[in-house]
Amino acid sequence: MSDMIDLLSKRRSVSPVALTGPGPSAQELKTLLTLAARVPDHGKLAPFRFIVFEGAAREKASGIIVEAFKAKTPQAPAEVIEAERMRFLRAPLIIAVVSCAAAHPKIPEWEQILTSGAVCMNLLIGAQAMGYAGSWLTNWLSYDRTVLTAFGVKPDEKIAGFVHLGRANAVPEDRVRPDLGTIVTHFS
Ligand SMILES: Cc1cc2nc3c(=O)[nH]c(=O)nc-3n(C[C@H](O)[C@H](O)[C@H](O)COP(=O)(O)O)c2cc1C
Repeated sequence: MSDMIDLLSKRRSVSPVALTGPGPSAQELKTLLTLAARVPDHGKLAPFRFIVFEGAAREKASGIIVEAFKAKTPQAPAEVIEAERMRFLRAPLIIAVVSCAAAHPKIPEWEQILTSGAVCMNLLIGAQAMGYAGSWLTNWLSYDRTVLTAFGVKPDEKIAGFVHLGRANAVPEDRVRPDLGTIVTHFS
């Protein structure tokens, strides 16, 4: 079995709670983003961009998340607020994949959105190939305009995912995978 088949057959998400540092170096990050951006893209529109959260900037992001959470959930207990505070402080690196999909005379917006999903998947696979692990998450903050504006996401952009990356300190058990018998038909 080739290394690539082996990697894909074992690929699993690792939750941020099981991620630790050190994260990718500046050079590894550049490589990773270059790999992630290498996706099929109808019309070559590059309908996506990245926002990188690492180091102390995660503390600033964490403050934004907590303030937005408290504003919309004033009764939240302290432990829930603490979980929100930790949301961007666990993995050493979080990469927001921003979809810039928009109406276009030739390229359906749906296809542009699919491209940003492919970017997220490339990030996960590329990171795993480099010895890292991670998770593709959205959570409530992907849909909260206060948070998005503070992160620099424009009103007509959407979050395809926050990809949390680091070193896995625990390898998760595999989960049940779709039964091919129920999802595959052969046209005849
Ligand atoms: C677009 C998208 C958003 C997701 N958002 C979340 C999320 O907010 N919270 C969560 O627990 N899992 C979320 N997931 C699921 C995890 O990324 C992942 O699918 C799951 O942990 C198991 O993945 P695996 O098959 O790679 O191990 C999301 C998945 C996708 C594709």
